Amino acid sequence: MAPELEEVKIAVLHGPNLNLLGRREPEIYGRETLSELDARLAETARGLEVDLVSFQSNSEGALIDEVQRLGPGVDGFVINAGGYSHTSIALCDALVGVGRPFVEVHLSNVMAREPFRHHSRLAGKAIGAIMGFGAESYLFGLRGLVSYLRRQSR
Ligand code: DQA
Repeated sequence: MAPELEEVKIAVLHGPNLNLLGRREPEIYGRETLSELDARLAETARGLEVDLVSFQSNSEGALIDEVQRLGPGVDGFVINAGGYSHTSIALCDALVGVGRPFVEVHLSNVMAREPFRHHSRLAGKAIGAIMGFGAESYLFGLRGLVSYLRRQSR
């Protein structure tokens, strides 16, 4: 098998309150539920011929545990850390600590919202960030990460 066709494994992490997608401030975050979004991610992953796992937690510690648990077995992460994006040094340390590239995504354009959302603890260590495209931000993030990984493996 050509190296670029070797199985790529990606983990998608959804942070706090994203379990409420579809019901939570739909004018900002849309009407799609988390399971509908995960289904679209799985379909995009199949099209890209990559393996995908998805995990949501409202707890910072659980997200960190999952980064540590999944890290050795995946090639990269797509993460929407929700409110922890703006606060969590520990989550950023975990992502850097497992040594896997990650893409930060947001449904909303956080730069066009309240000032406390303008700073990300993760962005400086991410390979890229995508925001403002609703659920599509995740799909663009996944595509961006997969093409980054395939470029690296050439
Ligand atoms: C969010 C933006 C964050 O500021 C907010 O706390 C969220 C969702 C987004 O996807 O737009 O929970 O990450």
